[in-house]
This record gives sequence, structure tokens and C-alpha cells, in this order.
Amino acid sequence: MNLLKKLFTYYKKNKYPISHGKTGIKEVGHRTYVGGLWDEIGKLQFEFLINNGLKPSDIFMDIACGSLRAGIHLIPYLNEGNYLGIDKEEDLINLGISKELDNKWLNIKKPELLISNSFEFNKFSKVPNFAIAQSLFTHLPPDLINFCFKKLSFHFDKKGVFFATYFVSEKKHDNPKKAHDHGIFKYTIEEIKSFGYSNGWDVEFIGDWNHPRNQQIVKYTLKNI
Ligand SMILES: C[S@@+](CC[C@H](N)C(=O)[O-])C[C@H]1O[C@@H](n2cnc3c(N)ncnc32)[C@H](O)[C@@H]1O
Repeated sequence: MNLLKKLFTYYKKNKYPISHGKTGIKEVGHRTYVGGLWDEIGKLQFEFLINNGLKPSDIFMDIACGSLRAGIHLIPYLNEGNYLGIDKEEDLINLGISKELDNKWLNIKKPELLISNSFEFNKFSKVPNFAIAQSLFTHLPPDLINFCFKKLSFHFDKKGVFFATYFVSEKKHDNPKKAHDHGIFKYTIEEIKSFGYSNGWDVEFIGDWNHPRNQQIVKYTLKNI
């Protein structure tokens, strides 16, 4: 191995504990790749959504659904065809289906699962009125977060609610330059609000929701214009 390759491997291995994408999923498995605490964070999302009004008849979108940590609770709960899951990692979705979701729910509830890294929400057959992005914006730089909000504003029910989680910092944080599934991005409350406001959303900062890693939750609704 030449020096450059050695340095690159060292950098890749040491900058983040887990490699990005397919390699990382293979290295650590689908549960660890999305952050572990499988049961706790899955149930936390499910209970939070129910307590905030999610009904079986809602059209729900799980933005960055990963390996269905929340999906295994939501798919059985929602009416047929009402769970829309999108993630950039095909392997996570496939392992979620084969190892986590009882096959019967796939047949009975017929969730729509989409592989996309560019928030192609228009590829779903339905327009959601309820959504969550749990620990997605904790791994993305501002341009991608804004892109997500912009795309969502064109494919979301006018009266819908969208919840997103963040790591909150008091001062502007020196975030990594590029998106990485194991890079930690933190934002101030002002930045978190401006992701919504600048893309046509109203914002309610909820804050603590008992996340074991202290991610905070925010509610976004489309502005009435
Ligand atoms: C920490 S995991 C959380 C997964 C899921 N929300 C959960 O609670 O288990 C972050 C997820 O974001 C996905 N992701 C990152 N960037 C994405 C993008 N641009 N489009 C879709 N998914 C993305 C990753 O593949 C990963 O599944």
C-alpha cells in the first residue's frame, strides 16, 4: 500500500468510528449503523408521534427511515399503504425488511419504501400529512437540510406536521464540511428556526423529548400563504 493510500485509510478509519454507506453497514450491521439503542429510539419515536396526534388514517413519511427502527412500530399501526419510508441506503432498507419487519406486515400494510439521496418525495404515490426526520439533520450540512425542506414543501399536505430532531448548540458550531452518517452536526436554535422560515415553514421549538442522546425535537408546519 502506498503512503497516500495508507494516510487515506487512517483518515477514514479515525475521523469517524464507522465508515459511510455500504461498507459501514457491512462492518457494523444495520442496527449499529443507525446508532444502536434499537428498541429505545424506535419506541420513543412511535410514542412521541402517537402522543402528538398520529392516527392510523394519516399518511406518514419517515424521512431517512434507515432500517425501520421506527417503521417496525409504525407500519403495523398505520392503515394499508400509509407508511412512506425514504433512505439513501438500499442495504439498510433491505435489512430492515428481511431482519426486523415481520413479513406479514409487508403484505398486509404494503408500505412504500424508496431509495433516494435527493429527497425525491414526489416519487411516492401519496402526499404525506405527517412526517419525521429522526437523526437526519444531525448528520447533514445546512445546504442539504435546506434542500430537504424545499423539496418537502412541494410534496406535503398544507395542514400537515413535520417533526425533525437536532443536536442543539448554544454558539454556532464548527460542523464537518461534508455530510457523513457518523459525523456530528450541531445547530443553534436560530439556525434551526431559519431552516424552516427560509423555506416557507412555521416553526415551534419543542426541545426535550427524552432522547437518550439529548437530541431536541422541532415541529414544522407549512406557512399559510
Ligand atoms: C442516524 S440514522 C437514523 C435512521 C432512522 N431515522 C432511525 O431513527 O433509525 C440516519 C439515516 O439518514 C440516512 N440519510 C443520510 N442522508 C440521507 C439523504 N440525503 N437522503 C436519505 N437518507 C439519508 C442514512 O442512510 C441513515 O439511515
